[in-house]
Amino acid sequence: MALYDNTGDGYARARRPDPRIGQLIAQALDGMGSVANIGAGTGSYEPPGTVVAVEPSRVMIDQRPPGTAPAVRAVAENLPLATRSVDAALAVLTIHHWTDLERGLAELRRIARRRIVILTWDHTVTREFWLLRDYLPAAADTDARLAVAIDRLEGLLPGATVSAVPVPHDCVDGFGAAYWRRPEAYLDPNVRAGMSMLALTSKQDVAAGLDRLREDLNSGRWAKTYADLLALPSIDIGYRLVTLEARSPGRADDDDG
Ligand SMILES: C[S@@+](CC[C@H](N)C(=O)[O-])C[C@H]1O[C@@H](n2cnc3c(N)ncnc32)[C@H](O)[C@@H]1O
Repeated sequence: MALYDNTGDGYARARRPDPRIGQLIAQALDGMGSVANIGAGTGSYEPPGTVVAVEPSRVMIDQRPPGTAPAVRAVAENLPLATRSVDAALAVLTIHHWTDLERGLAELRRIARRRIVILTWDHTVTREFWLLRDYLPAAADTDARLAVAIDRLEGLLPGATVSAVPVPHDCVDGFGAAYWRRPEAYLDPNVRAGMSMLALTSKQDVAAGLDRLREDLNSGRWAKTYADLLALPSIDIGYRLVTLEARSPGRADDDDG
């Protein structure tokens, strides 16, 4: 929360929703009449059926565009919402920030009548992304430190389904792996400003890795090494949609009938 109170300014500019990723989230929420968006930030990927957004950072709330769902300043671990008050609870790229994941997930399960949808990432896949693997291993370590392990999440949400969210080559959203086919973008400090994975890695380590990237771009080595990537429309860099139906096994509180 403090991170976003300090660096949330300008977040809405760097993080614009990508329509193809938005479509996958919308599909995951298909049929849900009311949605609570938890850790909602500025409202990226917030579906039209959102009735409330929960967000702890005032700076983020202040950047929510007019017309987005009403925002309540609160944390996932203690949701100010009644039990089974919404069809679905949505949490996009936020669970890794929660101070008590178990409690936050229990709260999602408490408030959602029908479905929980979480967008997160599998750091074991992300670490193979060329930028992290070959240029910024320190950022790969940061990423691993930040991430919620997918098997831990699956253990906490028995019965959940996990599906890949491919990143298009021209992804509009400016998150860390968005520029996988536009490597020059990583040399632009304005592009990097929206990437918490880099902001939380030692400046020297980032600078050294980017110097090597610049050299490889100038010499043509990057284009030669990663030629295969240039033909791909999208790739799996580890983003995952985790969906839990209310009636999945392990949902002990599922008692309406
Ligand atoms: C990477 S942003 C994602 C925001 C938005 N969901 C999106 O996709 O653009 C992470 C958000 O989680 C929020 N956050 C941090 N700790 C939280 C907590 N304990 N409960 C709920 N949200 C939290 C941050 O303030 C921030 O807005």
